[in-house]
Amino acid sequence: MTSQTKIISICNSKGGVGKSVVTLMTATAVAEQKNKKVLILDCDSQATIYELAEHEKEMYPDDEPLVEVEALSPRRVNTFLKRFADDYDLIFIDIPRMTDKKADNPTVMLLYNCDGILVPVIGSDVDVLATTEFLSVIQECRDFKQEMKEDFTAYGFINRRNLRKSNQEAEATLKKAGLKMFSNSLSDLRIFTSPSVFQSPLQTAEGQRRFEDFYREFCRKFKV
Ligand SMILES: Nc1ncnc2c1ncn2[C@@H]1O[C@H](COP(=O)(O)OP(=O)(O)OP(=O)(O)O)[C@@H](O)[C@H]1O
Ligand SMILES: [Mg+2]
Repeated sequence: MTSQTKIISICNSKGGVGKSVVTLMTATAVAEQKNKKVLILDCDSQATIYELAEHEKEMYPDDEPLVEVEALSPRRVNTFLKRFADDYDLIFIDIPRMTDKKADNPTVMLLYNCDGILVPVIGSDVDVLATTEFLSVIQECRDFKQEMKEDFTAYGFINRRNLRKSNQEAEATLKKAGLKMFSNSLSDLRIFTSPSVFQSPLQTAEGQRRFEDFYREFCRKFKV
């Protein structure tokens, strides 16, 4: 793709680590703070973000959502991007949890479209092990982008820091395995339990206090 549109996925093969909720929070924050046109491609058949957006749009028909959301199966993403990517400044791809990490898995393939990947990690042994395995997928994306002579950025961050005690160990293991880590992490945030396409976390006092540093690091590292 030759456009200026940036495509980022907040992803991990592991389920329940915060892929969708952090995607929505970050996407709405960028749209609101930077006045950018942001799209979330919801490629999970459970369509968590898409369903939420549809429900909210029904509830507030006169309001304009901060971000657009499209539900799309992974196989259809390439065609969609060819036609519509240029209409947006930033596109987030929300992926489903993965059982098969083979290079021809459609979910893995859609990550090849990304300029950046941010990996949420819960600091437990099981999650760290799964994430270490996921690093091979990131490496494939990096190799592909290099062949295309395009930039590629990948980082990890600790999500729900307060949930586990072994966060530092997790960070050390992942760094050793070759994943650069954000200096900011996220603890359990109350605002994350009621995400919205109409509101950015930075429009709340809790969000400003506990999400802003993470958001700023995201913008810096991914050049958003
Ligand atoms: N930092 C956080 N603070 C509070 N709750 C969180 C946080 N991160 C994730 N959660 C909660 O954890 C649950 C799982 O998050 P989410 O659905 O975003 O994970 P996921 O990786 O997208 O899962 P799946 O693999 O099923 O798609 C949700 O209830 C979400 O609200
Ligand atoms: Mg999800």
